Formats: sequence, C-alpha cells, structure tokens
Amino acid sequence: MIIKEGQPKNSEGLNEAHAIMNQYLRAMEAILQQIEAYSQEINAFAAADADSIEQFRIRFLGVKGIVKAIMGEMKNVPNEQKKSFGQTLNAFKMLAESKYEVEKVKVEGGEKNTGFKLDISLPGTPAPSGSRHPVTLMRNRIIEIFERLSFTVAEGPEIEDDWHNFTALNLDENHPARDMQDTFYLSTDPAILLRTHTSNTQIREMESRELPIRIICPGRVYRNETISARSHCFFHQVEGLYVDENVSFADLKQTLYYFVKEMFGEDVKVRFRPSYFPFTEPSAEMDISCQLCKGEGCAVCKRTGWLEILGCGMVHPNVLKNCGIDPEKYTGFAFGMGVERPALLKYGITDIRLFSENDVRFLEQFSGV
Ligand code: DAH
Repeated sequence: MIIKEGQPKNSEGLNEAHAIMNQYLRAMEAILQQIEAYSQEINAFAAADADSIEQFRIRFLGVKGIVKAIMGEMKNVPNEQKKSFGQTLNAFKMLAESKYEVEKVKVEGGEKNTGFKLDISLPGTPAPSGSRHPVTLMRNRIIEIFERLSFTVAEGPEIEDDWHNFTALNLDENHPARDMQDTFYLSTDPAILLRTHTSNTQIREMESRELPIRIICPGRVYRNETISARSHCFFHQVEGLYVDENVSFADLKQTLYYFVKEMFGEDVKVRFRPSYFPFTEPSAEMDISCQLCKGEGCAVCKRTGWLEILGCGMVHPNVLKNCGIDPEKYTGFAFGMGVERPALLKYGITDIRLFSENDVRFLEQFSGV
C-alpha cells in the first residue's frame, strides 16, 4: 500500500495511516537490527575449509539466501525511506560478497600452497643479454687503433649518387674499373645507387671539411656479386684518408705498419705490391704474412704465405681537384680494407654468409669476446 500525502481526508483515516506507518517503521527497525546482527556474523566469519566457505555462500549469497530475502523487503518500504534503506542494503550485500571473495582466496591459496615454501635466496631467471656481432667487434678494433693516431670517424650515405661513388673518384662514366664494382641502381637518370665502397665518404669530407683531414670511414657497401662462401652482395669496409701539406708515401707506410702490428702482433710481416686504383697514384696493395701457417703456406693463403688485406695509395691529383683542393699545395694518402676478411681470419670462420644469417647459435659464440 502506498501512502500518498493528503490521501486520508478525515481524522479516522489519518489515524489509520499513522498506524500503518508505525507498523512499517517497526518492521524496518527489526530488519535493520537483523542486518546489524548478520553484519557482525559476517565480520567474525573465518573459513576453515572449502566446505565452510560454500556454506557461507549459500547462507548469505545463495538464491534463497539472506541477502536476497532482505532485498525482497524493499518493496514494503515507504517511498521516503527507500533511498537510505537501499543504501544500507547495498552496503550489507557488498560486505557479504567481499567477505566471501577474501575467504575464498585464503582457503584456495592455502590449499595450493600446502607444502610450498618460497625460497627467495634462489637465483632468478636470467634475462638473456645479446653480444656484439663479430663484424662490429672487428670494425671497433680497427677504429680504436686509428683513433690512437688521431684519426676521427666520418660516416657517409649508403645510397649515393654517381658523382660521389664514381666520377669524383676519377672513375669516368666509361671507365673499365667500374665493371669490377657493379652495383644496384635505384635510378639511372640521374644515377642513384648503393655505394660500392666507403670512398664516397672521402669525397664528401674533402668537399666540406677544412684541411687538414685525418679521417677513418667505416660502413656497409654493396656489389652485384654472386653470393658464395667467399663473397657477398654486401659487406663492410673501413677506409682511411689523410690530406695535408707534405703528406708522403712514407707516412702511409708507417701508419699502416703501426696498424698491422697493433692488430695482428709484433711478429707479423708486411709487404706492398704495386697495384692500380683510379683514385690513387701510385697505388699499392698491402699483404700480411699468413697468421694461420706463419708464412709456411696453407689453404687459406693459397700456399703463398701472404694474405692481401688492403688497398692504398697517394690520393690522385684529379680527386683532390674534384673536391676543390689544390694538388700543388696538398697531398694525401688513402687506404681501404674489408672488415669481413680479417674477422674470418681472426675467428677461424670459413663461410662469409654466416655473418648475415642471424643464427643465434653462431652469434652466441662471440658473447665472451
Ligand atoms: N675503394 C677500394 C675498393 O673498394 C679500396 C681502396 C683502395 C680504397 C685504395 C682506397 C684506396 O682509399 O686508396 O676496392
């Protein structure tokens, strides 16, 4: 029954309404007392095992449980009381539910952990740490040695134009030496290509830097080669360049002697053979005594006792001119070496393809280096 304001017109009706109201209030009073008592029971509850937690659930939260039953009283509550009674009921419901969750976790966790003791002194699961790639190790070693001679590192782009990769290096469009450095073209007019050597950095530095220049240029280079155990379509080089007044071939030889001794040890022998590069004049190739057979002759050095490790020479006057440097006043030396070759020798690797296959079993072997 809903009591509306002003409904009972006469005093008899009013009395009746008051009587009903009082009856409700008393009933609600009783329910609130019950809620209070149940709340105390819930607070005091501690589940001994899975069975007692299930009984708790049925008693309070089941379909015919106490929470549902008290919720059912809501319909008898006078409108003005509904809000506050509803809040009390909700709080009661939440109390029962959270108690149930907490006790359940305790009971289940306790069962799972029977006999289990956490040993915080055990070592953790190690996070695998990577290691440097053998090509990086070798490149860094080369750089370190030249840094001791005051060379600084310069880097250039891998995607290059014809001028910086060929023409400025005295390799005209129809120069036969271009054949040995066939590469991958991204466009032909204008010619944009993947650089075939790090010599492009020489040109860029000479064009833009103040003299004297003493740089070392590490980087990746590309050639249109058939991939095999000995050659790849990309590899790494480190190139050196020194341009100043009065730089001579003697400076070149002394610099490279120092490098070789630092890199391969005091007892290594060195020889220079005359060679040809369009960008240097005179040009030479430098060999070192084979480190595997100590010069006796083996399969790696093709029974010669010598291994070719770099090309070098005095910077061609045309190259200096192309970069706006007066060849009457300045001279310079340059050299270039592959990084993979000495890495193969140093680590006894027989197939160059291993460097780029990304097989972690191969790479892991260098973790202690
Ligand atoms: N750029 C040459 C090559 O890739 C290597 C080289 C030889 C670089 C002689 C030089 C040099 O700077 O002087 O085969």
